[in-house]
Amino acid sequence: MILSIESSCDDSAIAITDIKTKKLLFHKKISQELEHSIYGGVVPELAARLHAEALPKILAECEPYFKDLKAVAVTSTPGLAVTLVEGVTMAKAVSVALGIPLIGVNHLVGHIYSLFIDKETRFPLTVLLVSGGHTQVMEVKSLQEIKTVAKSMDDSFGESFDKCAKMMGLGYPGGPLIEELAKDGDRKKYDFTIPLSQSKLIAFSYSGLKNAVRLAVEKGSEEDYKDIAASFEHIATMHLTQKLKKYFKTVQPKTFAIVGGASANLYLRSQIQELLRPHGADLLLSELKYCSDNAAMIGRVAVEMYDKKMFSNMQDLDISPRSSI
Ligand code: KG4
Ligand code: ZN
Repeated sequence: MILSIESSCDDSAIAITDIKTKKLLFHKKISQELEHSIYGGVVPELAARLHAEALPKILAECEPYFKDLKAVAVTSTPGLAVTLVEGVTMAKAVSVALGIPLIGVNHLVGHIYSLFIDKETRFPLTVLLVSGGHTQVMEVKSLQEIKTVAKSMDDSFGESFDKCAKMMGLGYPGGPLIEELAKDGDRKKYDFTIPLSQSKLIAFSYSGLKNAVRLAVEKGSEEDYKDIAASFEHIATMHLTQKLKKYFKTVQPKTFAIVGGASANLYLRSQIQELLRPHGADLLLSELKYCSDNAAMIGRVAVEMYDKKMFSNMQDLDISPRSSI
């Protein structure tokens, strides 16, 4: 079995995964959403302190599995430096105490493997990752062949929901709050500009849209918020589908997946489904509970890395806030 730890942002999570069957045997996550909500976003130092409280509690629950552990895995990149360190330090301690190898996992690869928790992998795959930290399209042939073909030049898709929610005083995380508010709103009420629509680039940008929303919020009143939320969600999604349409002109994937916290968004899911229909491509999605950060996806990658003996050296395994894919 492998014990995996996730602490890259505001979720403290630990999982136990069976190496042979790739089945998830244990998973527990303690989310800090409530604690960060009053600040309208994640406060790194507070997050680190909460991880230091939560992770040892979850680890204690894993004690019955200790005798069967063959490796310990941990998210080491990308994420908040002060929170990644909490998980990596714990993983190193477990590795030394139990005399088992250490596996450093890339969080973004974890999101890709959230599609395969309890399942066999299915490659090749084109993946849209939409989270709080990233918006990127990746062509995935295998664990070691992942190529990013488009990414955001500034804010991410999820982050723009968080920032718009903060402007309206809704709380954090903004994604589900904006989605809920948008349900009763008019998507066409605000004529926000679709980012980069005149550009040939296949890339994303959300800072201009965020500023347009800021102006609308400042000008409007609380009654307008549902229409602002609906129009924002519509344009934010149109931006993704417009660029993907361009990308599909040269590459036609047979299987397309959406992963990451914001892949829970139903409007996004439906618009991508529509986009894929004429191409006859399948849409893969993670189970709703594994869209947002979790340790089960880290464990699932770790099983593959264990098979390939992709271990990390105790001295060399360091945290890295930015990812290399
Ligand atoms: O993957 P995740 O849990 O953490 C990161 O790796 O960043 O993603 C969190 C992000 C937050 O920005 C959150 O607002 C967004 O995902 N999110 C959503 C929805 N649910 C979560 N965004 C849009 N619609 C949603 N329903
Ligand atoms: Zn994530």
